[in-house]
Amino acid sequence: MRYFVAAPARRIEGRIRVPGDKSISHRALMLGAIAEGRTEVKGFLPGADCLATLSALEAMGVGVTRHDDTNVGIDGVGLRGLRAPMRPLDMGNSGTAMRLMTGMLAGQEFDSTLIGDQSLSRRPMERVAQPLRLMGACIETSEGRPPLRISGRSGLTGVHYEMPVASAQVKSAVLLAGLFARGETSVREPAITRDHMERMLETFGQPVRREADLVRLVPEGVLRAADVDVPGDLSSATFLMLAGILAPAGELVIDRVGINPTRTGILEILRLMGADIEVAEAGRAGVEPVARMTVHPSALRGAVIPAALVPLAIDEFPAVFVAAALAAGVTTISGAQELRHKESDRIAVMTAGLRALGVDLAETPDGARIRGGTLGSGVVDSGGDHRVAMAFAAGAVRAAGPVRILDTANVATSFPGFVELSGQVGMDLAECEGSGAGSS
Ligand code: S3P
Repeated sequence: MRYFVAAPARRIEGRIRVPGDKSISHRALMLGAIAEGRTEVKGFLPGADCLATLSALEAMGVGVTRHDDTNVGIDGVGLRGLRAPMRPLDMGNSGTAMRLMTGMLAGQEFDSTLIGDQSLSRRPMERVAQPLRLMGACIETSEGRPPLRISGRSGLTGVHYEMPVASAQVKSAVLLAGLFARGETSVREPAITRDHMERMLETFGQPVRREADLVRLVPEGVLRAADVDVPGDLSSATFLMLAGILAPAGELVIDRVGINPTRTGILEILRLMGADIEVAEAGRAGVEPVARMTVHPSALRGAVIPAALVPLAIDEFPAVFVAAALAAGVTTISGAQELRHKESDRIAVMTAGLRALGVDLAETPDGARIRGGTLGSGVVDSGGDHRVAMAFAAGAVRAAGPVRILDTANVATSFPGFVELSGQVGMDLAECEGSGAGSS
């Protein structure tokens, strides 16, 4: 097993970039695969999650050229050009890969099976199968979870779908299936979620009509290859920003981070808690706005996190838990029950980890109540969850002593090079191999 040993640090400083956005990288590969012509993706995230999507597309006959780690060419096969895969498609740890791929495969004439690792095999899939069945797809789940068996269909029908949970993955899967359907497909979301799919469909020549919480698509019958410039992932930047905020000294600058307004809830939450974050808009990466972020050491204070910000910061809550543990006063997180369905049950895993470091907190069904103070030295189990591991690594900057973080191999799913980049900015983080047992 891999584990991190993270020790307190004095200064976090430097000027860096973080790897490409995971959500945008997946979407660029998928739309590129079913477009006409060659799509070039610049700034692609070469993390295991996106590589799972890439391999699945290759297994269905899509030509992929890796110019280097972060620049990828895709020879689109058109909406009807995917070929039946010879074996089950392995989506690894990635919920996004599995759910979006299900939308794309629902409209194919061939059968396919999607599998995943232990964590993904526990995650709910009926949320995506149900709306796709309404469109005429034939999808079997295994008691609601992977593997998914998708039977070939010669055509889908557009539907109007009212999503019961705010999920960009479900919305994106339905829109992808809508490309293969007769008539209009529309989705209403209970709260605004990330809109990368809508933006990218337009980049590929497929109009999408958006009216407040409603997205509508009438398929054009063709997608046109496009060049995609992927911004840095704000979700990845968050962990380094948190380290810079918690450190006693320094100044950390992160260039070219995506600031799509459906993703920036974390900036609002950290500012509400007193964080000093400057956001200097720096133009666009394709259709996505980007910025230079500068963070300084800040005295954090507890806050009531507005539930409305939850979908806009859904992946950043492990960092919010850690910020709360080091803030003066009490922080209340609510309306965040979706955290229980991520790569781990993030409410339970963060609660257990913070408790192991001496933090006083109460877990609730949809969040937690955290009394901030100090973070002790000790051992925490990340539950194999990349973002939990990185959140504790950031917290260790300000802990009373070393923190041993278990089960960290999955950090490579979203943030390859995290340990090296952390060292570059002054974090004291080592990755080790072994049982992780013993005192820290
Ligand atoms: C994602 C959507 C989010 C997020 C995930 C990526 C996407 O999930 O947690 O990491 O790319 O659509 P939900 O919107 O399903 O909660």
